Amino acid sequence: MNLNNKIALITGASKGIGRAISIKFAENGCDIIFFYKSNEKLANKVAKEVKAIGRKVLPIKLDVSNYIEVERAKLKIRKNFEHINILVNNAGILRDSLFEKMSQEQWDDVININLTGVFNCTRVFLEELIKSEEASIVNITSISGIYGNVGQTNYSASKSGIIGFTKALAKEVAGNSIRVNAIAPGFIETDIWNQLPEHIFQRVLKKIPLRKIGNPDHIANTALFLASKDAKYITGQVIKVDGGIGLSVL
Ligand SMILES: NC(=O)c1ccc[n+]([C@@H]2O[C@H](COP(=O)([O-])OP(=O)(O)OC[C@H]3O[C@@H](n4cnc5c(N)ncnc54)[C@H](OP(=O)(O)O)[C@@H]3O)[C@@H](O)[C@H]2O)c1
Repeated sequence: MNLNNKIALITGASKGIGRAISIKFAENGCDIIFFYKSNEKLANKVAKEVKAIGRKVLPIKLDVSNYIEVERAKLKIRKNFEHINILVNNAGILRDSLFEKMSQEQWDDVININLTGVFNCTRVFLEELIKSEEASIVNITSISGIYGNVGQTNYSASKSGIIGFTKALAKEVAGNSIRVNAIAPGFIETDIWNQLPEHIFQRVLKKIPLRKIGNPDHIANTALFLASKDAKYITGQVIKVDGGIGLSVL
């Protein structure tokens, strides 16, 4: 699998899964543009790592939920890169709460960043993708968007929304040779889980048939496959990368 001379835009890549995807893509010959929200120090570290691999990199600090900021980023990108072949919509947050206690702010933050952020980035960059040959969009959803999860009505709704978005857009843009797929990670070891109490973590672990949580590289490998020519007949799919947790009904 290689992405030689491709250019990828990856959202939410200062750490975690987005960082792993950036490094993996760079190792496979791809130049990287990435968005992050606040952590400049970590973003610079990722940029250094990509440069050390020998690829071009452009980190941009913005909020994916703000359409105007994303549009402004496009102008900056155009000055540095001719086109974009791959878009990975990865930026996402948790604001967990039981529904009865969930505030409007917790609902809005999650929907605006996780779902409207995907709309914003795809809407702004679709034209660029149409111009490039054999483009690919990879959206990061979650098993929470497939099965639902207690305390995550906002998050599950946002991630189910991404699945519907992925399938509908796949049909709309197939004629432009753009493939649109999604990855549904299970429990992956990143900062997002710092908010998870230890006893819940232990309970979750027991439900995973492979008996371990995943790491960001597992998701990056799948993103690499979906973005590459090896997946050129795959579109509108949701691939679970979850250690088999979805099998644990019995
Ligand atoms: N980890 C898991 O177990 C898991 C499971 C299923 C799905 N996922 C999904 O995978 C994706 C990545 O998760 P992760 O675990 O890698 O999270 P993470 O370690 O918390 O990293 C999140 C990244 O998104 C960026 N970000 C957050 N809000 C943003 C915004 N408004 N605009 C632009 N960038 C923003 C952060 O930037 P700053 O740090 O600079 O703010 C950071 O780079 C998310 O969509 C998440 O829902 C994760």
